[in-house]
Amino acid sequence: MNGKRAAGRKAVEEIKDGMTIGLGTGSTVYYFLEALAEKVADGFHMTGVATSQKTIDLAHQWNIPMQPLNAVKTIDITIDGADEVDALLNGIKGGGGALLYEKLVAKASKRRVWIVDNSKKVEQLGTFPLPVEVVPFGWKHIETYLEGKGYQPQVRRGDDNEPYITDAKHYILDLHLTSIADPRALADELDHLTGVVEHGLFLNMTDKVIIGYPDGQTETL
Ligand code: 5RP
Repeated sequence: MNGKRAAGRKAVEEIKDGMTIGLGTGSTVYYFLEALAEKVADGFHMTGVATSQKTIDLAHQWNIPMQPLNAVKTIDITIDGADEVDALLNGIKGGGGALLYEKLVAKASKRRVWIVDNSKKVEQLGTFPLPVEVVPFGWKHIETYLEGKGYQPQVRRGDDNEPYITDAKHYILDLHLTSIADPRALADELDHLTGVVEHGLFLNMTDKVIIGYPDGQTETL
């Protein structure tokens, strides 16, 4: 058992028959989807709302019933991963490039649970590069601005070395900050930058964090 699997499988205890469930993105969510698919095969009823094309593809492969976000009024609970989480349950997300849809689904959800392995627990956010999703038009000017602020942006690239393109057809600038002393101030600043569509600071946006350990144990924050 690895920590991601432990957390992913534990999260099925959070869901009830008949729920509409937001389905996050990433290698930890993979294990949740695997466990969810087993329940669905056993007759569990639910509707999933995905946060990425990758998750839609997995859900289809495993016969998990899905609806687009616009087709549901509300989401009962969303289970998603995170790249870093601190003791105040603030986090960085977007390592998998799905931050925009993840934030939209999180905001439409009554309850939110993150599933992470123990390596994601941090004292202070910022060691993990902070993803900032930007419009492709004129992105180099946003990069130059962020460079001037000392945020060390690096455009994320795909295997072809071209800029990585998100599901919403944007680019991502990863900010190599090392530490974020005031996450709220940085989030406010990025929220007001023209050309920035969304950023990976998820502040006060989860109700619970399930942390998995390599020995298969879990802890809840
Ligand atoms: C994708 C995310 C993921 O939740 C985050 O990157 C964690 O991924 P993993 O479970 O693979 O470590 O935010 O945009």
